[in-house]
Amino acid sequence: MSVITTSDLRGLVIESFEDEPHLAAIELPPLTSTGVRIGLRAASINAFDWKVATGALSHAFEYDFPVTIGRDYAGVVLAVGEGVSRVAVGHPVFGYLGGQTLHRGAFATELYCDEEECFVAMPAELSFEQAACLPLCGVVAWRCVEAVTPTEGALVLVVGAPGGVGTYAVQLAAARGAQVIATGRDDDADYLYKLGAVDVVPPDDSLIGIMRDRYPAGIDGLIDVVHFRPQLVEYLDLLRDGGRVASTHRSVDDADFKGRDLSGVNVHSGPDRDLLTMLAREAADGRLVTPIDTVFEFAELPSAVAAAQQRHSRGRLVVRLQR
Ligand SMILES: NC(=O)c1ccc[n+]([C@@H]2O[C@H](COP(=O)([O-])OP(=O)(O)OC[C@H]3O[C@@H](n4cnc5c(N)ncnc54)[C@H](OP(=O)(O)O)[C@@H]3O)[C@@H](O)[C@H]2O)c1
Repeated sequence: MSVITTSDLRGLVIESFEDEPHLAAIELPPLTSTGVRIGLRAASINAFDWKVATGALSHAFEYDFPVTIGRDYAGVVLAVGEGVSRVAVGHPVFGYLGGQTLHRGAFATELYCDEEECFVAMPAELSFEQAACLPLCGVVAWRCVEAVTPTEGALVLVVGAPGGVGTYAVQLAAARGAQVIATGRDDDADYLYKLGAVDVVPPDDSLIGIMRDRYPAGIDGLIDVVHFRPQLVEYLDLLRDGGRVASTHRSVDDADFKGRDLSGVNVHSGPDRDLLTMLAREAADGRLVTPIDTVFEFAELPSAVAAAQQRHSRGRLVVRLQR
C-alpha cells in the first residue's frame, strides 16, 4: 500500500524500546472512504505518553515501531474520504487516540483517523490548547466521579489532585455538591481551592493520619490516581459504610471489600464521543476550567515529554504543533 510522505509530516517518534523520543518524518496511509486527515494544532502530554516513551507500557500495549507518541489532540480537518458525513474539511475537532496497538500519535503535524474514532467538533469558545488538554483526563475524571457518585455534602478525597485527571475530578465532584478534600503541596493550595476543594492535605506519609484526625467519622468517596493495590488498601480504611472508591491504576479488587459495606470501580479511558462533547460544552460554558501549566513549541517536544515525567505541574502540559 502506498503511503503519504511529505517534508511537513513529522512527529515525536521512538523506533525501538532503546530509542530516545526524537522528531522524525512520519507516514500517513492513503485516504479511504471513511478516512479523515487532521492537521494538528495542539496536543497535551499525559502520564500515558511518557510511559509509552520509556517503554513502561510494553507489558500492556503492542508497540508497532516506529511509534509516534501522543494521545490527546486538537486540530482542523484537512481531507475526508467520500463516505465521511460527520465532519468536513475546515472543521476544528479534538479527540483522543485509543486502542491497544501503539503506532499513530498525536505529537505530530498530521494525524490519520477513521470517521468512527473518538473525535468531535471543537466549540468555538475553546482554543486548540484548551481543547487538547480535555480528552483523556476529562473522560477519566468524569468516570471517577460517576463511580463515587457523590451526593450533596459527601466527603470525597482526591489523591493526585493537582495533576491532569485530579484537576478535573476536583471540579466535577465539587460541581455535584461534594466537599472535596484534595491532596497537594502547600503551594498547590490556592490552585486547588479555586477548583472547588474545601480542604488540602499533604501528599505524603502523614496523609492517612491527618485524614483520620480531621474526618474521624470517615469519608464517602475516594478518587485515587496514584496508588497501586497494596497502598490503596490502606486508604480504604478512611471510608465509612457505603463508601466508594475509583482507581485509575486498576487497584480496586472486590476481595478487599469482603465483609465491608464498600464498593469500587477501576476506571478506564475507553472512547465515548458523547462524553467528549458534553465535557467540551462544560468547558466552553465556563463550568469546567482547563488549566494549562505550560505551553511548549513543536521543536521542544522531546524535552517537553521528559519534563512531564519529572516535573510537578498543575493541570496539563500542552504542545503547539504548528511548526
Ligand atoms: N486507566 C486509564 O485509562 C488511565 C487514564 C488516564 C490516566 N491514567 C493514570 O492515572 C494517573 C494520573 O494521571 P494524570 O494524567 O493525572 O497524571 P499527573 O498529571 O502526573 O498527576 C498525578 C498527580 O499525582 C500526584 N502524586 C504523585 N505521587 C503522589 C502521592 N504519593 N500522593 C499524592 N499525590 C501524588 C502528582 O504530584 P507530583 O507532580 O508532585 O508528583 C500529580 O499531581 C497516571 O498514572 C495515569 O497513567 C490511567
